[in-house]
Amino acid sequence: MDLLHTLKHRHTTKAYDSERKIPAPVVAQLLEALRYSPSSVNSQPWHFFVADTAEGKARIAKSTSGTFAFNAPRVLNASHVIVLSARNTLPPEYLQTLADQEQADGRYADADARALAHKGRSGFVGLHEQAGDVATWTQKQTYIAQGFLLLSAALLGVDATPMEGFDAAILSKELGLAEKDLSPAVIVALGYHSDADFNAKLPKSRLPEKAIFSHI
Ligand SMILES: Cc1cc2nc3c(=O)[nH]c(=O)nc-3n(C[C@H](O)[C@H](O)[C@H](O)COP(=O)(O)O)c2cc1C
Repeated sequence: MDLLHTLKHRHTTKAYDSERKIPAPVVAQLLEALRYSPSSVNSQPWHFFVADTAEGKARIAKSTSGTFAFNAPRVLNASHVIVLSARNTLPPEYLQTLADQEQADGRYADADARALAHKGRSGFVGLHEQAGDVATWTQKQTYIAQGFLLLSAALLGVDATPMEGFDAAILSKELGLAEKDLSPAVIVALGYHSDADFNAKLPKSRLPEKAIFSHI
């Protein structure tokens, strides 16, 4: 695996071959990339809606009408489309669920270790509750998962399209997100590009190293 080659050759796919489906074992790895993404205090404040049927993709595509119509064919023609959503709040019962999972996964030597970890996580959440930015914080964590998904797709030879171009209110209503205490963060389409994907042929453009790095 040549990491730099992969980084420089992945691209945002603008048109998909609707006939090509991602094989199930590859999809399973992509979903694991989401599940194993890191998050602050292991909060995992996300939920992912995965669509691989025409019906599921049509539901998501409702949010790419009007202003965002340019994204509709990407949603409809991709093999799989994932809505990455973030929790609006992190209530005590959710933090308890996290502590229980870490216990089940063998993270704690004893009750004191568990209590300390729980206190630390609750403290961090409390700071964000005081600052009134829990939802912003959970969205940030969810974008980390997006990064993991995009890099994993590239490593597995799967094309992808991250999309912020959608109507969040329409998508929330369609998926009943508010009732689940969730908000949409970003949509990622996955599959294989078609000949109509103009971005596959364009050179990449990035700011030069000297513009974005300061060695101090
Ligand atoms: C968070 C995010 C949102 C994006 N939203 C869209 C979008 O709605 N539609 C689209 O075609 N591309 C979208 N892009 C793709 C960017 O335009 C693209 O990543 C950027 O131009 C760099 O090109 P590359 O991904 O081909 O390297 C988005 C990218 C990111 C990371």
